[in-house]
Amino acid sequence: MNVSIIGTGYVGLTTGACLAFLGHKVTCVDADERKIQALEAGRVPFFEPHMEDLVADARCNLCFTTRYADAIPKADVVFIAVGTPPGPNGSPDLRYLEAAARGIGQNLADHFTVVVNKSTVPIGSGNWVGALVREAYEQAKGRKANGAFAVASNPEFLREGSAILDSLYPDRVVIGADEPRTSEVLYTLYRPILEQTFQAPAYQPRPDQLAAVPLISTDLASAELIKYAANAFLALKISYINEIGQVAEKVGADIRQIARGIGLDARIGPRFLQAGIGWGGSCFGKDTAALVATAAEYGVAAHIVKAAREVNRLQRERAVDKLLAELKILKGRTIGLLGLAFKPHTDDLREAPALDIARKLIERGARVKVHDPVAMERFRRENAELEVACCASAEDVAEDADAIMLVTEWPDYADLPWEKLGASMRSRILLDGRQLLDRERLTRAGFKYIGLPD
Ligand code: UDX
Repeated sequence: MNVSIIGTGYVGLTTGACLAFLGHKVTCVDADERKIQALEAGRVPFFEPHMEDLVADARCNLCFTTRYADAIPKADVVFIAVGTPPGPNGSPDLRYLEAAARGIGQNLADHFTVVVNKSTVPIGSGNWVGALVREAYEQAKGRKANGAFAVASNPEFLREGSAILDSLYPDRVVIGADEPRTSEVLYTLYRPILEQTFQAPAYQPRPDQLAAVPLISTDLASAELIKYAANAFLALKISYINEIGQVAEKVGADIRQIARGIGLDARIGPRFLQAGIGWGGSCFGKDTAALVATAAEYGVAAHIVKAAREVNRLQRERAVDKLLAELKILKGRTIGLLGLAFKPHTDDLREAPALDIARKLIERGARVKVHDPVAMERFRRENAELEVACCASAEDVAEDADAIMLVTEWPDYADLPWEKLGASMRSRILLDGRQLLDRERLTRAGFKYIGLPD
């Protein structure tokens, strides 16, 4: 099929590259000329494992442009995958979505085209996008848009750092549409994924025993709410284990064993029960805020989601408080942070706990040194105002530090030469913000190990 994708961020580019890999003809559109030039040259503008390989493998089916006129008229399916950054009151800022909808409407040809919301958008956006596309179409062509297009919702569940895995081998595909012919177009598009009939790329083999992927075919509003409900549930699962962590610390229980003990109950499941500093990233904060805002519009209080957000906020404070309790005075101390990205295997710093913690430490008069295996360059570019010392290695972070805080659980930090690091520190204090390290190993290396929870 002919597919066009508006927006070449994580979601847009991953969707485009995967569909092109499966054999569809894909045109990716982005307003940013530099991004398009980089992609033309085979360079991916963000760090994501194997994305450059996938783009190279799919190259013969992929093209990149800044012009809607090159992409929309020929498309059977147009995905909208633009950013919906958080607005001031918790509701997302929809101006890029609006511009995309108008651009699509102005450029639609006469054959039936399915316009798909892939960005996470507030409930009801399907109807709103439909109205915008129709209005732009009618203005451009001077006639009614009857039957020229239909809007669908196809929420994206990929995680940064495992975007290709999540896209080629998803747990489910959700399609929301109000007419059967719209769902049928998307069914045909996703068939190779639903039936797992494609040849897996060498760098991303098919998980064992994956024979088929379930399809949820539903109405627009349900598909939109599935996305919010899924992200909010994952976010509250993390906040739940962090709240239990506080109780565990008080009663002297071991949170890692508790997470194992409850996670093996199939009704609960083992994932997203890793206690620590809590969630960051572009989705959980934004989507939980948007869900609370939508609920409020309809007079629903969303107590549970609000509480999950509050627990998450407090975890970052708790991390700094623990250092304060240990060092007594933070003024004039040097604190080393290991990890800046909001999670491992990405260079994304949006809502990263490390940034918040660095600011809190600086406010209290501490000097802060930082290191990240891949996010340093992006950090310097995007956070030049933060007065921290950028280090080339974990060893540099440790030198003359009064304490180290492990903020992101990069595998690179799992087995550092702690004796050597400790020898260059002023005091051997380590706060493990991710339950990553072995308390006994650190204690043997002369460290005071502090867990979150401890
Ligand atoms: C998330 C959703 O998982 C994905 O389905 C959706 O499409 C987009 O939002 P992402 O933000 O890329 O994906 O990362 P994810 O792996 O979900 O991690 C989010 C945050 O939660 C990270 O900061 C991570 O460190 C934290 N986390 C995750 C925990 O603190 N504990 C856990 O057990 C799991």
